[in-house]
Amino acid sequence: MASNKRGIFLSIEGTDGSGKSTQIAKIISYLQEKGKDVVLTREPGGTPISEQIREMLLDTANAKMTPLTEMLLYAAARAQHVQEKILPALAEGKIVLSDRYVDSSIAYQAYGRGLGECVKTVNEIATGGLLPDLTIFLDLSPQEGILRKSKEENHQMDRLEQEQAAFHERVYEGYLAACADAKNRVVRIDANKDVETVFSQIQAAVEQCLDLR
Ligand code: TYD
Repeated sequence: MASNKRGIFLSIEGTDGSGKSTQIAKIISYLQEKGKDVVLTREPGGTPISEQIREMLLDTANAKMTPLTEMLLYAAARAQHVQEKILPALAEGKIVLSDRYVDSSIAYQAYGRGLGECVKTVNEIATGGLLPDLTIFLDLSPQEGILRKSKEENHQMDRLEQEQAAFHERVYEGYLAACADAKNRVVRIDANKDVETVFSQIQAAVEQCLDLR
C-alpha cells in the first residue's frame, strides 16, 4: 500500500498534558522555515468522516461505549484518515505530522482498556501496515500530565481524560511498551524539561530522520 510513498511520515504521542500542542506548533514552524511542504493532521480526526467519529469518541454522554466499540471506532477513523489524507500527501512527497497515530491505540486501548494483542491486528488492517518513519513520544508521568491539564483555564475534561488514575497508569505503561517494541522508530523525550530543551531534542530527531532520506 505504501509503495508509492515519497514523503515523510511523522507522528507525535504523549499522555494527556504532555505539552504536545506547544511542541507541534514549534515543529511546524521549524519545518516551514526549512521550506518543507508540511501537512499537520490529528487523530482521532483529520478528515470530515474521521472528525465525526471523533465527536462520538470524546463525547462524555457516551459513557456506555464498550472498550471494543471504542477501539474499532478509533481504527475506523484511522482507516479513513490513512486512505483519504495521509497516503495521498505522502505520495505527493509531503511531510505529514500526525498528532497521535497507532501508538495511541496501543497505549489507550490495548493497555488502558486491556484489549491486548487484537488492537495491533485490527490496526494493521486499518492502516494497511503504514507506520510513521519517526514517532516522537513525549514522556511525562500520568500524575503530572493530569495535574497540568486540570490547571488549564476553561479546560473541559473529555471522556478519556475523565478516566481514573489507574487507567492513565496503564496507558503510560502501554507507551513504554510501544517504545521498547519499536526502538528504531520511536524516540522517547523527557517532557519534564523546559519547552526549549524538549524542542531541541525533537529537532535533532527530526533532522536525523530528514537526513536519512
Ligand atoms: P485530544 O483532545 O486530541 O487529546 P490530546 O490533546 O491529549 O491529544 O483527544 C484524543 C483522546 O483520544 C486522548 O485522550 C487520547 C485518546 N485516543 C485513544 O484512546 N486512542 C487512539 O487511538 C487515539 C488516536 C486517541
